[in-house]
Amino acid sequence: MSGKSRNGERLIELDVTHPLWDRFFWIAPLVLVGTLEADGAFDLAPKHMAMPMGWQNYFGFVCAPRHATYANARREGGFAVSWPTPEQLVQTSLAAAPRHEGTKPGLAAFPLEAAASVPGVVVPGASLQLECELEQIVDGFGDNSLIVGKAVAARGREAVLRDPDTDDAELIRDAPVLAYLHPGRLAFVAETQAFPFPKGMRK
Ligand SMILES: Cc1cc2nc3c(=O)[nH]c(=O)nc-3n(C[C@H](O)[C@H](O)[C@H](O)COP(=O)(O)O)c2cc1C
Repeated sequence: MSGKSRNGERLIELDVTHPLWDRFFWIAPLVLVGTLEADGAFDLAPKHMAMPMGWQNYFGFVCAPRHATYANARREGGFAVSWPTPEQLVQTSLAAAPRHEGTKPGLAAFPLEAAASVPGVVVPGASLQLECELEQIVDGFGDNSLIVGKAVAARGREAVLRDPDTDDAELIRDAPVLAYLHPGRLAFVAETQAFPFPKGMRK
């Protein structure tokens, strides 16, 4: 017994000299970043530390410089982002499988396409696809860097795009949103409610 009460109010002090992010579950998106290797081959890697950077269509993700994705995005000046559907979870997982003699055999099992507008790679059938020109790489967050691009093309499946004639709750129920719960769990969010914004709030 740890002595920690499961439903208790006791606050446990966390050791900030160690990484905090595996000590509790936190919600992130799960996307596939597609880049071009130096020889033109396609590369794909799942990223959960990924999000819009403000409201002007910048998109950023955290990437270790030792990953091929980092070198590819830097060298080619672009990357693409695909949001996998529930059916594409196996593909998403295989995209993180270790390389054999420099290549990822798991990628050969699924179709990939060159992005139309940037040097990057998209996943056909993904819920959403974003094609980004490289904007900035910020190194130095410990072992990691932030890679930021600006979307120059984007497309989404009709089922996931908001529409004034469709109720938001209904749209999400029909096309549940994939949430990655770090570390190592996931959920499909189908039941939602409107956020109680304060009157007059502006973003
Ligand atoms: C669910 C999941 C989420 C991941 N999220 C990230 C991430 O946010 N940043 C990162 O650098 N690597 C992340 N990874 C690890 C990379 O995807 C993995 O090391 C990949 O093989 C790197 O491929 P590359 O060398 O072709 O870039 C994640 C892996 C998984 C399975």
